[in-house]
Amino acid sequence: MKTKIYDVRDLNKHNLEQSIIYDEAEANAKVNEALNKIDEAAKILVNGGLVAFPTETVYGLGANAMDPEAVAKIYEAKGRPGDNPLIVHIARASNIGELTPTLTPKIIRLIDNFWPGPLTIVLKKKPEVPDITTGGLDTVAIRMPDDPIALELIKKAGCPIAAPSANLSGRPSPTRGEHVVTDLDGKVDAILIGNDCRIGIESTVLDMTGAVPTILRPGIITAENIEAAIGETVVMDPALNQRMDASNGDEDENLIPRAPGMKYAHYAPKAEMTIIEGQIDKVKKEIQRLKGLNEGLGLKVGVILFEEKAFIEAAHEFFAKLRAMDDDGVDLILAGALSEQDGVGFAVMNRMLKSAGYHIAKV
Ligand code: TXA
Ligand code: MG
Repeated sequence: MKTKIYDVRDLNKHNLEQSIIYDEAEANAKVNEALNKIDEAAKILVNGGLVAFPTETVYGLGANAMDPEAVAKIYEAKGRPGDNPLIVHIARASNIGELTPTLTPKIIRLIDNFWPGPLTIVLKKKPEVPDITTGGLDTVAIRMPDDPIALELIKKAGCPIAAPSANLSGRPSPTRGEHVVTDLDGKVDAILIGNDCRIGIESTVLDMTGAVPTILRPGIITAENIEAAIGETVVMDPALNQRMDASNGDEDENLIPRAPGMKYAHYAPKAEMTIIEGQIDKVKKEIQRLKGLNEGLGLKVGVILFEEKAFIEAAHEFFAKLRAMDDDGVDLILAGALSEQDGVGFAVMNRMLKSAGYHIAKV
């Protein structure tokens, strides 16, 4: 399949205003050009095709969420297991009623506080939402992304858009247009190229279908943020605190994650990866020691070590670093563990642990 690649960065007039010779008329023409490309992409979606697009978290691979045949193509293009449900993206809060019958004051407060933005809310689904979109579950995960290109595309398509991250299944999530091209060129109808993703890790997934609001996947929006908005305790899915022992792969039966996607090996770089955990100075020393040792054996070693507490930066850079190291032919990645046990540090650590297949060395 020939993939159309549309650069639509000019939709963001702010980018154009950064240029030295700024001309209002020319800028408007460029914005219109970008709008026309997004129009074409929206038509592809309406006709049952696949379009990758930027969001503020990671790039998504979209299809009409209400069209089972279109959604089936997502699973095929990504090589994604069929029991892993997709997030449905909307561009107007008022469209949520097409997907779910349950809108409590608490849910409306969540929407008011966090949409558009990186919070996905799991709710009871309406029968109209196809089973293939929700992996056969009777719930549906919904979010409104905070990105002008994504919002324009979804509005123009006029239907809810199912979109997992736009990577091949098991690869690091794509945070730059070029990552999507690497993984999906030739496999999807179109790719919209925008700016690098502002956040860099996927949205927080919050299950609102049970008695207690439960975070199924941690993200930039933390339990604390959500508690402040709804005035109620938020808990973490216990499976998130489990550090699977890579050597035996054993998983406690009771601790199967409730977000089906969280049980898969994920985000894996081609290189072997080990996380070094402990007091920061010791971690640095150990990384240097292991680096020297492995380089002495002729291996190419990559190091990921963020400043202590630089969690936002770590979120922004982590997946891109994994991909860059793959491109450089790195054999072994040594990563310093992040220190925070909850909040944003916890969210990035969750991705780090999965990328490393839970290989941790304590110092
Ligand atoms: O930031 C994001 O959320 C990105 C962008 C593109 O919006 N999307 C994304 O989608 O990360 P994906 O498919 O890679 O991850 C969706 C996660 C999976 O872990 C999946 O199992 C979970 O959400 N999920 C989806 N629907 C669910 C449901 N009904 N119940 C529980 N978990 C659900
Ligand atoms: Mg994903």
